[in-house]
Amino acid sequence: MNINSLNNRIALITGGNSGIGRCTALELARNGAHVFIACRDQGKAQSVIDEFSTFPMVGKIEYLNLDLSDLNSVKNCAREFVSKGLPLHLLINNAGVAGLKGLTQQGFEMTMGVNHLGHFLLTQELMPSLLSGSPSRIINVASRAHVYAKGINFESFRRSTDSKLGIREYCESKLANVLFTKELAKRLKGTGVSSYAVHPGVVASSLWREVPEPLRALIKIFMVSNNKGARTTLHCATSSRTAFESGDYYADSRSKKPSKVALDTNLAAELWTKSSQWVNDYDLTIKKG
Ligand SMILES: NC(=O)c1ccc[n+]([C@@H]2O[C@H](COP(=O)([O-])OP(=O)(O)OC[C@H]3O[C@@H](n4cnc5c(N)ncnc54)[C@H](OP(=O)(O)O)[C@@H]3O)[C@@H](O)[C@H]2O)c1
Repeated sequence: MNINSLNNRIALITGGNSGIGRCTALELARNGAHVFIACRDQGKAQSVIDEFSTFPMVGKIEYLNLDLSDLNSVKNCAREFVSKGLPLHLLINNAGVAGLKGLTQQGFEMTMGVNHLGHFLLTQELMPSLLSGSPSRIINVASRAHVYAKGINFESFRRSTDSKLGIREYCESKLANVLFTKELAKRLKGTGVSSYAVHPGVVASSLWREVPEPLRALIKIFMVSNNKGARTTLHCATSSRTAFESGDYYADSRSKKPSKVALDTNLAAELWTKSSQWVNDYDLTIKKG
């Protein structure tokens, strides 16, 4: 991909150790960015750093510890970054799970907790750095799967996964990513911080490992490579054309119309309010089991 130099640009990407995130992190660093990979496993991050060190490149990759299923870990990760006193130009909320069942550390449904709530808190906590990096961008890696969600079931946030394959929760979490992007754009208007939601395509990553056969085999038929999957994220992160289209949903490196429910501004505002309450009150309402 043809990317303008990213020298002196600082990026933080969640799940940068694997799949689409790994390709995105390497490409940003290859073009000069200083990239922080926020993930749960230092060994996996080190393998990206080692791969990068074999390229004759100018950027840099560093590891930050982050477990999105634990809001304390999310806070610690953001605080570690903020304490460095660096501006943040690109926040890429890329990590995600599909087909996983159960509860997060603080008792939220696992897929909604990791895919939406963890990223919601991370974004809030990194806001001072994003504002000091302005013009800066937030990219939420969503999915076209959001079109299968009829709405957000707020009740199901506080109980263990109840659909058989966890697919309903996945689709709702991806709808939450698109709604969050819209609401961020509204709230950040005039700050120079813009937000984008991305559908990366159907990608041959490890995301589908929890999805049982024969559904997995069916999905595989449509898959593209991780490198291709990283393209729309990279486009939103680096293209000068996207700079004025904050809040939009992108697929194939173009702004596309998301589902009707993803354009519901009342639902986006309600999701924001409820998510704020949950991430602020979580230590009072621990419900693990
Ligand atoms: N693949 C597709 O076809 C497709 C389609 C549409 C959207 N997407 C979206 O693309 C994004 C990237 O997924 P991918 O396809 O590249 O899958 P992937 O290879 O499985 O990568 C997922 C990443 O998320 C990380 N992660 C999972 N749980 C985490 C947690 N609790 N805390 C921190 N990190 C966690 C994983 O870390 P570990 O290695 O430690 O597990 C991994 O780095 C996801 O948001 C996904 O929903 C993918």
